[in-house]
Amino acid sequence: MTRKIIIDCDPGQDDAVALFLAFASDGELDLLGITAVGGNVPLELTQRNARMMCDIANRKETPVHAGCATPTVRPLRTAEMIHGRTGINGIDVFEPETPLQEQHAVDFIIRTLLDADDASITLVPTGPLTNIGTAIDREPAILGKVEQIVLMGGAMREGGNRTPSAEFNILVDPDAADIVFRCGRPIVQMGLDVTHQVLSTRERIERIKALDNPVADATAGMLSFFARYDTEKYTSKGAPLHDPCTLAWLIEPGLFAGKDCNVAIETQSDLTLGHTAVDFWHVTDRPINVHWIHSVDADGFYELLTARLARFGGSD
Ligand code: BDR
Ligand code: CA
Repeated sequence: MTRKIIIDCDPGQDDAVALFLAFASDGELDLLGITAVGGNVPLELTQRNARMMCDIANRKETPVHAGCATPTVRPLRTAEMIHGRTGINGIDVFEPETPLQEQHAVDFIIRTLLDADDASITLVPTGPLTNIGTAIDREPAILGKVEQIVLMGGAMREGGNRTPSAEFNILVDPDAADIVFRCGRPIVQMGLDVTHQVLSTRERIERIKALDNPVADATAGMLSFFARYDTEKYTSKGAPLHDPCTLAWLIEPGLFAGKDCNVAIETQSDLTLGHTAVDFWHVTDRPINVHWIHSVDADGFYELLTARLARFGGSD
């Protein structure tokens, strides 16, 4: 079965690799469009970076829409210290041919969902949840059209990566995240507990580079840059490849293991703003709203990614 998906993202090197994985997976996924949001870098750059990835993968017909530049009620926090000034440091920036659609991303999401069959579209957010939260708030009737929301964000055992309590995507717009997590549709959540298991080691990057095609080269370049900051921060052997976990789960869910839980978002406390309270042991009577992914076969994940990137051509 081919799933219809919309990827809502803030590229970001790992968002960019998630887009490549989607482009390479036509058999499983029908990518209806890409919506960009302000996050890792400002919106002018995230929408440009998304269009660059369409160019690199020769998918220039993909509709790319720019959405919300700033979070629902707070100023934008960006993450240039991790992703570099362009958001995709590690490759050279160019002006893409893939056009930017005129329609605002929130209007695209609402229109596409309202026109769809019930429970037929999966939303794949890999950035702050501003576009998705705004769409739900503005037109709650879209919820019946959502099959699942498969998102990257949050943390439990790993703690936060931007504050001691919070993961970046949820921290940037906790108010939008609160709307999404209370929306009533099934959520599959890739938090840091699982994404910190898929490390872009030098050997894994070398295998991708050896594929010798433009998409693999771009991936290797971006991941090499991405690895610098995170290997120092976590003293690990490579950077966690957060966002592609969402696509990998859609393509090969057997690589992952998870548990149904309640997850609630902290929107008030200055100290723990953006914390995801994961009721892993079911110690409250709050309703199940999330399938919380906690582990992954990391070698299997990189085999899948490498095999899919090989589809763009090159050496063997
Ligand atoms: C998330 O934040 C961003 O820096 C990455 O693109 C990923 O979506 C990880 O916390
Ligand atoms: Ca992201």
